[in-house]
Amino acid sequence: MVVRIWLLILLSTANLFAAEPGKDISHCLECHPSHYTDLGTCVACHRGFSGTARINIAHDGLIAARFSSFTIDDDPTTKRGEELLKNYACRRCHTSGDKGNRLAANLDFSQLEKTPEELEEAIQFPVLFMPEFHFSQQQRVELINAILLGGRQVKIPEQELPEVVHFEGEEVTREFQFEKYCGGCHRALTARFGGLGSGLIGPNLSGIFSEFYVLNFGEDKKRWSIENLEKWLKNPRKIRPFAQMPPVELKKEEFESICNELQHQEPVNNALPEAAELTAPLSAQ
Ligand code: HEC
Ligand code: HEC
Ligand code: HEC
Ligand code: HEC
Repeated sequence: MVVRIWLLILLSTANLFAAEPGKDISHCLECHPSHYTDLGTCVACHRGFSGTARINIAHDGLIAARFSSFTIDDDPTTKRGEELLKNYACRRCHTSGDKGNRLAANLDFSQLEKTPEELEEAIQFPVLFMPEFHFSQQQRVELINAILLGGRQVKIPEQELPEVVHFEGEEVTREFQFEKYCGGCHRALTARFGGLGSGLIGPNLSGIFSEFYVLNFGEDKKRWSIENLEKWLKNPRKIRPFAQMPPVELKKEEFESICNELQHQEPVNNALPEAAELTAPLSAQ
């Protein structure tokens, strides 16, 4: 009886190693012990190429161990990353897990073109209008796991390409009221005009009217509608007693222009929407 069981185990493992073309996982196992076998193959979680024992090729495109946590259900590292994505409102500029604005790279697509290491570097050494968040290495690893999980949940259409944001070299043919009145203290990525402003004293206002901006208007933490912004500009301290921002006096057209400039979506009919038109749906939230 004992002999028979051993024989069975031997046979079933032999089956694993059988040379099924394209599905052979034995080469990873030549150098590594196996784990999580009931959850999938090595390459399903780590990528890489299992059809060779040559390490450079086997490890091509490998997802390192620290970025692999997201493959495990309810993994705490990934959960913390998801909290960070939410608390730092990354989705006011990025899409992740098919949710968010498209003012900057769609992170569900970024991971197809970039390695987790490159994405981590992009968070550590931000360029252009990506804010500097000063995350610890552990937090960056958590974020990348959350971003990778987001990409996994999305069915990526073959044709779609990431939003292209133009930042430099474009002729500026209009005067931006945002630059004039807010840009000294604030920055914002916008759908129509790319990055505006150069200030770092005030918060980055990208996607302010969207559901993905921090909900922090007033005591009851509401969303920033156009109406709410108008109240704020008249007297920030009436909304937030210790606000560090002075009131800004604007003409009606100037305020409307700022609201249009700050939009996170292209208007459907390609015409600038009137601020008044946008007030209703936004404040209905
Ligand atoms: C020829 C031996 C060899 C083969 C084949 C091989 N590995 Fe490795 N692997 C190593 C060695 C050595 C290390 C540790 C040094 C390093 O990271 O390069 C390693 C490290 C790793 C790590 C950890 C990397 C990190 O930085 O966290 C993972 C994950 C991994 N291998 C997965 C795989 C998978 C999946 C396959 C098959 C597709 C595979 N390996 C094939 C030798 C191999
Ligand atoms: C369900 C996903 C999953 C599968 C399948 C999987 N791994 Fe892993 N692997 C991970 C995770 C997550 C880690 C990070 C450490 C941990 O949780 O054990 C990891 C870590 C590693 C490491 C780094 C060393 C260590 O133990 O920390 C190596 C090497 C590795 N895996 C190789 C493999 C090989 C070879 C296979 C195929 C037999 C495989 N893995 C299958 C998820 C997986
Ligand atoms: C104010 C808008 C804004 C916010 C908020 C923001 N980012 Fe970015 N991010 C950018 C811009 C701009 C880039 C440069 C690449 C591009 O054009 O999208 C970028 C690049 C990245 C990249 C590299 C993407 C690639 O394809 O190279 C990652 C990863 C990233 N951001 C993660 C995050 C995370 C995580 C957060 C939240 C903690 C965050 N970002 C918040 C604007 C933003
Ligand atoms: C002199 C610098 C300065 C100018 C000019 C300025 N702001 Fe501010 N703004 C700030 C500071 C500082 C804060 C942070 C307020 C606080 O202490 O809570 C802020 C906060 C805000 C907030 C709250 C955002 C949040 O997430 O808390 C909004 C909205 C805002 N400003 C919009 C504008 C707009 C629109 C303009 C232009 C019409 C403008 N600001 C001009 C400095 C400025």
